[in-house]
Amino acid sequence: MSKNFDVIVIGGGPGGYIAAIRAAQLGFTTACVDEWKNDKGGPAPGGTCTNVGCIPSKALLQSSEHYEHAAKHFAEHGIGLKSLSIDVAKMVARKDQVVKQNNDGILYLFKKNKVSFFHGRGSFVKAVDGGYQIAVGDELLTGKQVVVATGSSARALPGLPFDEDKILSNDGALRIGAVPKKLGVIGAGVIGLEMGSVWRRLGAEVQVLEALPAFLGAADEQIAKEAQKAFAKQGLKVELGVKIGEIKTGAKGVSVAYADAKGAEKTLDVDKLIVSIGRVPNTTGLNPEAVGLKLDERGAIVVDDECRTNLPGVWAVGDVVRGPMLAHKAEEEGVAVAERIAGQHGHVDFGLIPWVLYTSPEIAWVGKTEQQLKAEGRAYKAGTFPFMANGRARALGDTTGMVKFLADAATDEILGVHIVGPMASELIAEACVAMAFKASSEDIARICHAHPSLAESVKEAALAVDKRTLNF
Ligand code: FAD
Ligand code: NAI
Repeated sequence: MSKNFDVIVIGGGPGGYIAAIRAAQLGFTTACVDEWKNDKGGPAPGGTCTNVGCIPSKALLQSSEHYEHAAKHFAEHGIGLKSLSIDVAKMVARKDQVVKQNNDGILYLFKKNKVSFFHGRGSFVKAVDGGYQIAVGDELLTGKQVVVATGSSARALPGLPFDEDKILSNDGALRIGAVPKKLGVIGAGVIGLEMGSVWRRLGAEVQVLEALPAFLGAADEQIAKEAQKAFAKQGLKVELGVKIGEIKTGAKGVSVAYADAKGAEKTLDVDKLIVSIGRVPNTTGLNPEAVGLKLDERGAIVVDDECRTNLPGVWAVGDVVRGPMLAHKAEEEGVAVAERIAGQHGHVDFGLIPWVLYTSPEIAWVGKTEQQLKAEGRAYKAGTFPFMANGRARALGDTTGMVKFLADAATDEILGVHIVGPMASELIAEACVAMAFKASSEDIARICHAHPSLAESVKEAALAVDKRTLNF
């Protein structure tokens, strides 16, 4: 017999589990179906983000950062170490524990909010009167509304499937058993730079090969240049404008043939190769054909600005639809969809979704880049403030980078904030709040910021828009 729900969410990543919790909060009987398995075959909700994405990558970034601090920076503080070692197995086990805490946390949240959780693959069976039938193994569920949040998977290079031993996706990159001597990375995007940083800090010689001629093309150019300089200084080698040729794997490792930016033929020999060239929407097993759910040519579910699909009562959110593949974007869409189902006015401001790279220096931004404003022909003023002139950054021993404000030339409304430097991931929140309230740079410049704090650099960059920094 079919179990009936007001809302069935397929996928328990940040888009899905948050949509399910919000739907339950709004009084709907809600089910969430997720197929991710932990190493014992049990449920592991949280999706890519929790299992092989945001959370484990940040755990390893933290461990490797501690190691690098101990190796390179403790001495500056007068702290001596007789010997230093890294137990990779323990570092990875700690990361797994962090993941498990998050999986368990989500199961707890489902109980607390009375969301019925089903562990297995959810597939459309057919449209029924007033809803849709979804199969999960032998069980049949019926939902008046269905939210698809099936996420994304790593994109492989043609003819080079991931074996997670030598050719690694994000999954394998997060559980390398010992520090490789030489690590190659294809794609200098977010994953390439974050995972490349982890293994470089632990002692691997890392070489990143990127097809595009510009470094971090989506970021503000000035910020990207500053970050590129910092990475080069650390020894993270990034070669731009390459064309990847034949890749061979053998007993010893991986050999990557490529043409460099000038067309010269080269070979990179590495022990392991991370391929991080973007991700593809995941609809495996969803059986969208059974109900006529429309996909685009990339395999993404086609939705409008409000996450409505071509089918009445079927919604889709997160990585499986258009837009940036970010956990917080998926969450915002999940909340908005649940609220729309309840007849409320759920809203996502796509212009105010922050980006963060958790490298060191961290890179974070929200709103428009300088090159975008130029292309739009919009008159703007820019103000920057370097962390070098910030007392807290000096005390921390981390003065790389800057905060940059872009504001409308006439109204002074903040149009974009770009940060490269310590704790950029946390500092960007002030810019998001300010921009959501349509603040001007002068608003930020007039607000008292605690001293000494990195946040004072945000205030100073706002002052810089009007050319009146106080500490630089
Ligand atoms: P997912 O998290 O992919 O979840 C989808 C879930 O649905 C999965 O559990 C999957 O098993 C399940 N599923 C799929 N099909 C079915 C089916 N038919 N039936 C049942 N279940 C199904 N984003 C950030 O914002 N910050 C970061 O720091 C960050 N770091 C990242 C690091 C890495 C290495 C990677 C790979 C990604 C990172 N991301 C980060 C991106 C982030 O993980 C994704 O944007 C986010 O997970 C998308 O959420 P989602 O709910 O749409 O999909
Ligand atoms: P990405 O889109 O960030 O970067 C992929 C890079 O690979 C691009 O620079 C692209 O030009 C390059 N590329 C593509 N094909 C290539 C080829 N054949 N040869 C050489 N280079 C090639 O994708 P990535 O790093 O795989 O990450 C996927 C997504 O996951 C990100 O876009 C982001 O949405 C999310 N993510 C977010 C994080 C965060 O928020 N901190 C961390 C990690 C991932």
